[in-house]
Amino acid sequence: MTGTVNGWTLDDIPWDRFDASKVDLQTLEAVKAAAMVEYNAADYVGYLSKVFAGDGDMLADIERWGREETQHGLALGRWAEIADPSFKFEPAFARFREGYKPPHFASGEAARGGRAGEMIARCVVESGTSSFYSGIRDETGEPVLKAIAARIAADEFRHYRLFYEGFLKYQPRERLPFWRRLGVALGRVAEAEDDELAYAFYAGNVPEAEFSLRPYRRAVYSKEYNRRVLRFYRPQHIRKAVQMILMPVGLKPQGALVRWLGEAFWWVIRMRGKSYEAKAS
Ligand SMILES: [Fe+2]
Ligand SMILES: [Fe+2]
Repeated sequence: MTGTVNGWTLDDIPWDRFDASKVDLQTLEAVKAAAMVEYNAADYVGYLSKVFAGDGDMLADIERWGREETQHGLALGRWAEIADPSFKFEPAFARFREGYKPPHFASGEAARGGRAGEMIARCVVESGTSSFYSGIRDETGEPVLKAIAARIAADEFRHYRLFYEGFLKYQPRERLPFWRRLGVALGRVAEAEDDELAYAFYAGNVPEAEFSLRPYRRAVYSKEYNRRVLRFYRPQHIRKAVQMILMPVGLKPQGALVRWLGEAFWWVIRMRGKSYEAKAS
């Protein structure tokens, strides 16, 4: 695999262009959560390294990928600290680590039916992150966050290609049937509602002193997170993400079914976004 070296460092970000007047509180809260999930990449590197033990090329790619994801966390965390001087990234991240431990990490067993399945799950995640950061890039008026999100979005599209190539490598050996591939992809989409993002939102936005007053509840903080992020998305972000998710499932991006699913998913996102806005007003 070539071309996985991320072409930027934190020094390439134009920090001096920061404009406090363009910071939007909801975006800031979403960025704090995203920074923690990104910065937690080492856990995923450990897990995927066990799943892909013996495949030297893949292990090298996974290492590099993990460093890039960690850098995403650092860039977003630094931006959040500048935008909100009361926010301290490292202690918030420590709280996130303390409270969120994915169950399948400890065993190192492939959680999704083999290496091809694991690659489908990673494709789903990178489809989600590439559309998420494309959405932030297009939505925010704050120049530094726009610059960070543009770089991260480009990385996430590249990560998708890395894992899609990994899927193409393992699928001929493992021959996951269509319904299993679809099941893995949909299962991973559904996991977006689990504790990871909700707890990252909680740990990033609820001060530790208030933890006992405002205990973590998945349903509450999952909603809080979604309320902030759904408005980033435009139809083109969602259509593209749906195409990317369904590629390893075996559905052609330009096919009628994928186009229809793209429109249906966009409708769901829009309706959920509207219902949150209605409740907030
Ligand atoms: Fe990332
Ligand atoms: Fe990524």
